[in-house]
Amino acid sequence: MASTDAPDDKIQSSKLSSHTVLTKGVEALCFRGGEGTHCSKGPEVRIPSSGRNELLRLLHTELQELNYIISTTALDRREEHFSCILLHARAALNHAHAHPALVKGSLALEGCKAIFGKAAGLSSFATMATPQAEQASDQKFNEGLYGLRHTVWNQQDLRPIYPKISKDEATDVVVVGAGISGLSTAYNLVKEGKKVVVLEAKARGSGMTGRTTAHIMTWNDDYYYKIAKQHGIEVCKIVGESHRAAIDFVARTVDEEGIYCKFAKVDGYLFPHEDSDEALGILKEELEASKLAGFDVKMVDLAGDPACGKIGNAIQFPGNGDFHPLMYINGLAEAIVRRGGKIYEQSRVSKNEAHKVTTEDGVTVTAESVVLATLSPLNHNLAIHARQEAQRTYVLGFKVKKGSVKKAQWWDTNEPYHYIRIEEREGFDVLIVGGNDNATGMPAKDYMKSTPFSSLEKWARQRWTAADEVIYQWTGQVYEPIDSLHLIGPDPNPASSTDVYVVTGDSGQGMTGGTIAGILIKDLILKRENRWAKVYSPSRLPPFDKSTASAAVDIAEHTMRGYASKSPVICIDAIDIEDLLPDTGAIKQDGLHKVAIYKDKHGGLHKYSAVCPHMKCIVQWNPIDKSWDCPCHGSIFDAFGRCVDGPAKADLSPMPLS
Ligand SMILES: Cc1cc2nc3c(=O)[nH]c(=O)nc-3n(C[C@H](O)[C@H](O)[C@H](O)COP(=O)(O)OP(=O)(O)OC[C@H]3O[C@@H](n4cnc5c(N)ncnc54)[C@H](O)[C@@H]3O)c2cc1C
Ligand code: FES
Repeated sequence: MASTDAPDDKIQSSKLSSHTVLTKGVEALCFRGGEGTHCSKGPEVRIPSSGRNELLRLLHTELQELNYIISTTALDRREEHFSCILLHARAALNHAHAHPALVKGSLALEGCKAIFGKAAGLSSFATMATPQAEQASDQKFNEGLYGLRHTVWNQQDLRPIYPKISKDEATDVVVVGAGISGLSTAYNLVKEGKKVVVLEAKARGSGMTGRTTAHIMTWNDDYYYKIAKQHGIEVCKIVGESHRAAIDFVARTVDEEGIYCKFAKVDGYLFPHEDSDEALGILKEELEASKLAGFDVKMVDLAGDPACGKIGNAIQFPGNGDFHPLMYINGLAEAIVRRGGKIYEQSRVSKNEAHKVTTEDGVTVTAESVVLATLSPLNHNLAIHARQEAQRTYVLGFKVKKGSVKKAQWWDTNEPYHYIRIEEREGFDVLIVGGNDNATGMPAKDYMKSTPFSSLEKWARQRWTAADEVIYQWTGQVYEPIDSLHLIGPDPNPASSTDVYVVTGDSGQGMTGGTIAGILIKDLILKRENRWAKVYSPSRLPPFDKSTASAAVDIAEHTMRGYASKSPVICIDAIDIEDLLPDTGAIKQDGLHKVAIYKDKHGGLHKYSAVCPHMKCIVQWNPIDKSWDCPCHGSIFDAFGRCVDGPAKADLSPMPLS
């Protein structure tokens, strides 16, 4: 790599102060020829902006750690001239070696080496692309991501860095899906000496792990008191134990693998959504149950603290994990590969059997065990799909003055609840507020009534008056199990073998759940005892009570609607195709068929069968995400009918325009 191979000799042998070294570096390498001119050394290196920003942040922090003072504005302005920055990193590293007294600690030096390794990896990918090829590849890749996705983690800029699988392989374990669940599982197994292959349809983190708000919660968002009532106190204790173990696991892994992901422990607060006896009653019940679950919780009054919004009484949960989810899973991915595991991206699985999965290109991976970590398992198993409900959820990121809101996590007792946290940036903070969930696949007209984003904004501004402009906005999907607990373990499908494992039922707490799955599935595959296995088993019978009955009725209702809408008189959008606005879709009846018609931005019509290839429900147009959503089990297809989220594995069938 021309841009990273040879550090500038002058810099290498410099006897100047660290500050001067970098300033000189900037002058010599970036500023020669004046503003806007590319580096004099090596070809211009184009790095995808996600990688660039991440690396810039890492470099900035770590170089400061090394006593190197570097102007962030210079770095920011020079984003396009990445080769210079890589050279600075190399120069800094060399200088640090030559002047160990400057280095605060060997950890910092290791950090710089790790960054430099990362930089080299990213640049080797990036230099292969010409600007035109990169643009085309961005466009192509982004077609695989759908909907509103301007996330605070820059998921929208995510691109694959691992190869596509091109030939058949045999391995010990094949993991399908490279979100937090799949990568945590793969990481734990490679550490135990297993041969592991990960197959990812798009890029690591391109599912909900790139759209999360990333609270690694001690609190269980299905309430410890409800779990105790539904499943008993022992189960409540085990669930509490597994949440603590997940947070400890992330903390340990970040440390052991040197993953820079801004991991920190923060307080979390559960607060009443309204000033009512009922809401306060919930809080009191949850306080006692959380103590039973092993947490050192207490009731606090936050009313006097302006940094906590307009919140009064709340339960304080100490020790929640807070991190950057994409940086974390990138670190896991690197550790997997470093330890001998294999990751393939842009490798969508279109067929899965007991000991074999096949990609849409016909490449097979045979394995002793198959792990389906695809958010919702790629199977037709109603023992799973009929016991969890897919829901859309909404997030806004507000710019706030640095430090004006406490770095903590907040959740209210509303149903659906609001979830709030802070993400720190240079010069300002981002207040991330989520909530307003609705069932996936609701009819388009209902979205017009629900206005999830404007009501979320209003709700947030009433409580956090520091909230300034909205700078991020995105949506995502969670799966609510009817009996409050994740579904992690052997696939209950009688047709599949005991060597197929599923991870689902994330319930909006899949950072914790995915990490728990990583530990549990590793133990199951290695045939080790784990007392969480029974609790999270997808084969468990849900307890029958008012709450599970009502959740089951809701699911049945959506499924009935999904199937009933096949009838010619039901669920046709009232609008005429001529009146359809550009970039909008509608479901229409065409003879005996229900069709999904999308009018693109230029007025062109695209027609697909509205029958979901998973289990034949009728999809609905989602006007917020511009996607076709299935009300039965939550499959999502982009406006052009391409399957972007399972359980479906195929696209909507195109139909000729009549
Ligand atoms: C807006 C939002 C906020 C959230 N906030 C929180 C939070 O604060 N705390 C928390 O704990 N949880 C939160 N969650 C939930 C959490 O983000 C998810 O539960 C978690 O990311 C799920 O991880 P996963 O690895 O199971 O699934 P995903 O991250 O969705 O990964 C599944 C992967 O499988 C791939 N895949 C799918 N089909 C195939 C196929 N056929 N072949 C190959 N690959 C395939 C996908 O491309 C994807 O990359 C939130 C979720 C959302 C949407
Ligand atoms: S997701 Fe199951 S029928 Fe559509």
